[in-house]
Amino acid sequence: LAARTRGSEGVTVVICSVEEFPPGSRRIVTTGGREIGVFRVDDAFYAVRNRCPHQGGPLCTGPIRHLIRANGPGEPEVDTGVPFVVCPWHGFHYNASTGEAYATGDPRVKSYPVSVEAGEILLADMDSRTPLVAETFPVYVEGRYVVLEA
Ligand code: FES
Repeated sequence: LAARTRGSEGVTVVICSVEEFPPGSRRIVTTGGREIGVFRVDDAFYAVRNRCPHQGGPLCTGPIRHLIRANGPGEPEVDTGVPFVVCPWHGFHYNASTGEAYATGDPRVKSYPVSVEAGEILLADMDSRTPLVAETFPVYVEGRYVVLEA
């Protein structure tokens, strides 16, 4: 099985096997010149662009939080629905599924569908029009050192 996301250009990015992506973890992938953060919360996956619509902060490096609601004084409850990605710069909250900003009226962040698919389906895609893209990084020789830019 693999978690994958479809970028805005219609490119499918195979991220890794589900076993390599445990609950509570995240990965930031680059495709088409854009960074996309992929999150696993319990058994659900979410993906949003790693650029906060407010002032361009690295949104996907911030915490993931659920809302806390209260029906009355002393009755707080954690909303276990879709979590929010919290920007580390100024704390704006974005719905991890829809990308909508919470309670600010600010523009939404671009969100992407993520699916978990069997390897056979991914192999079948290789024969379709949807290109599969592996995450790559530039590697070069600088002096006597091999440097990986990740
Ligand atoms: S840049 Fe993200 S809240 Fe300001």
